[in-house]
Amino acid sequence: MKELKLIGIVGAGQMGRGIAQVAAQNGFEVKIFDVSKDGLQFALNFIHQQLKSGAEKGKWSEAQEMEARKKINPAYQLSELKNCQLVIEAASENKKIKFEIFKDLDNVVDAGCLLVSNTSSISITEIGAQTKRPHLVAGMHFMNPVPVMKLVEGIRGLETSEETFSTIEAVALKMGKVFIKANDLPGFAVNRILMPMINEAIYALYEGVASARDIDQAMKLGTNQPMGPFELADFIGLDTCLAIMEVLHEGLGDSKYRPCPLLKKYVLAGRMGKKCKRGFYDYASIN
Ligand code: CAA
Repeated sequence: MKELKLIGIVGAGQMGRGIAQVAAQNGFEVKIFDVSKDGLQFALNFIHQQLKSGAEKGKWSEAQEMEARKKINPAYQLSELKNCQLVIEAASENKKIKFEIFKDLDNVVDAGCLLVSNTSSISITEIGAQTKRPHLVAGMHFMNPVPVMKLVEGIRGLETSEETFSTIEAVALKMGKVFIKANDLPGFAVNRILMPMINEAIYALYEGVASARDIDQAMKLGTNQPMGPFELADFIGLDTCLAIMEVLHEGLGDSKYRPCPLLKKYVLAGRMGKKCKRGFYDYASIN
């Protein structure tokens, strides 16, 4: 298995910045790129803040905080990821955007560099086919918030080599995560099960079974989930939930996966969840 030191990250949103933080705290050098310079700066500030507050709470030492900070560097051009041995893409859950990124990465990074997507539902086989190195392409699906959630779902595309897959497993373990292996089918393991549950909760609201708040209480207190389905949907982003349901519906061709019209309506209205301060709940008063 290849020894990996330098990881590139494409996309500095909530997933990319979380992956960068966890990678740096577990000994990897990190270069993080985003098309938005402001977005990149926001992510770096956010990571620094997270590292500082963890040190203040005694989760790690101040020296470890500083060491992790030093390991994360911004990249202002995709080509600055050239020397990375692994690049993890964590851009928007949009096929067109991801395909473009993989085509561009394939042209700029070294020949042996592994290219990994943090996609929550898009086919790894199809992403790999955008490159001339599909054997070096795999999925590493991190959960949000990355520093807290223990799981990485590893996804093997049709052409992913054994060596690539065992390397990403080793990287996930070095990051302190638990790795499960999933095959490349729509939604993989987590979202094949989680999203229909969230979608069903939205149907229950739509059909008047109970209010969003009561359904959340029911699932939290009745089934011991840390967040109810509406809180979780707002946390993930309703646009992401809809995109995943559409992949399940289209990819599996079964009407049981059809996205609830109410979910579509919220997305059309721009109520995307916590990041927009409005989803099933109102977050206007929260910073
Ligand atoms: N980054 C880093 N740490 C965070 C964090 C973040 N964004 N959010 C919370 N934390 C930490 C807090 O610092 C706190 O740590 P300490 O206890 O050590 O101080 C700890 O997590 C608990 O936080 P809080 O007390 O503020 O809040 P909580 O107890 O309500 O927990 C939660 C928050 C961890 C998010 C919890 O509600 C939870 O586990 N929710 C479910 C999350 C989940 O299911 N995620 C998966 C979504 S699916 C997905 O990501 C895949 C996909 O493709 C859609």
